[in-house]
Amino acid sequence: MSHASHITLSRYLIEKQREKQLIPADLRLLIEVVARSCVHIAVTIGKGALGGALGEAGSENIQGEAQKKLDVISNEILLDANEWGGHLAAMASEEMPLPRLIPHRYPQGEYLLLFDPLDGSSNIDVNASIGTIFSVLKCPDGVDMSSEAAAEQAFLQPGTAQVAAGYAIYGPTTLLALTVGDGVALFTLDRESGAFVLTQEKLTIPAETSEFAVNMSNQRHWEAPVQRYVAELLQGREGVRGRDFNMRWVAAMVADVHRILIRGGVFMYPQDARTREKGGKLRLMYEANPMAWLIEQAGGAASTGRARILDLAPAKLHQRVPVILGAKHEVERLVSYHAKPDE
Ligand code: F6P
Repeated sequence: MSHASHITLSRYLIEKQREKQLIPADLRLLIEVVARSCVHIAVTIGKGALGGALGEAGSENIQGEAQKKLDVISNEILLDANEWGGHLAAMASEEMPLPRLIPHRYPQGEYLLLFDPLDGSSNIDVNASIGTIFSVLKCPDGVDMSSEAAAEQAFLQPGTAQVAAGYAIYGPTTLLALTVGDGVALFTLDRESGAFVLTQEKLTIPAETSEFAVNMSNQRHWEAPVQRYVAELLQGREGVRGRDFNMRWVAAMVADVHRILIRGGVFMYPQDARTREKGGKLRLMYEANPMAWLIEQAGGAASTGRARILDLAPAKLHQRVPVILGAKHEVERLVSYHAKPDE
């Protein structure tokens, strides 16, 4: 199905709950609240300079990165919308050092929500695509949730434990991609009704591709297996691959992953000499895990080069990892190069 249906996100989720019993009511509510927050963020972004929300916030996040006003506003929108519904035990955000507990005046739920409120924020000022990425886990029984610091433990689960994941992309159209473990569905925001409407289901990434995404300016810092892989792509028709490859880099993971879900490709933010100490560039819990699950649900693969991303046991909330994801055969080739780094 590629044209607009009359199936809103609410109806899609109710059918998943009622007919397939794939998701409980609380998870449905959670996803709807996240989607509503994304509409709120889309409206705020859409106002641009007229809304006074452009520019620097004058603060830094836990990663030491300068925050934009929209990073802070998007984070607040998600926190405010999700704290009172009774569906959450805690939230964690790329923008906050510690998890946010649900205030005692509200009922406590059984889910944990993680988000990167505004991904690719260097694109804000140039009016290019940006997004929100989210991941949902179940709060394990018996974990100490008495303090924000103790609550971090509850979040340290592998990506295979996710019960929902997705992103909103704020581009020419605002779209929401979602998985609850039953394939990837894509919804388009109807700006008149404010509803997300199902426009594509069961997204599938072709196993072969002729397009890659990587920040080439980092080339000299990469490890040998990625050097070899990209050199072979650049040799094109005259090289071992026997065909030409095209390159795209939006510099917002949401937009690059979205392109791969729509028309295939491989995305890399590999290990490099500058980020090795930190573990990598992208965040495991807010970026790599939700995107890896979406990609796998669409028939692709996601790896660090040495291990499946979804199998990684996180050691800390803000952990970073190398990321290679997209077309299955390309990711497998990269993994095989990592296994024989001297070739
Ligand atoms: O969150 C980090 C991020 O903005 C990603 O969305 C994106 O893929 C990457 O960084 C871009 O990195 P660079 O600025 O090195 O191209």
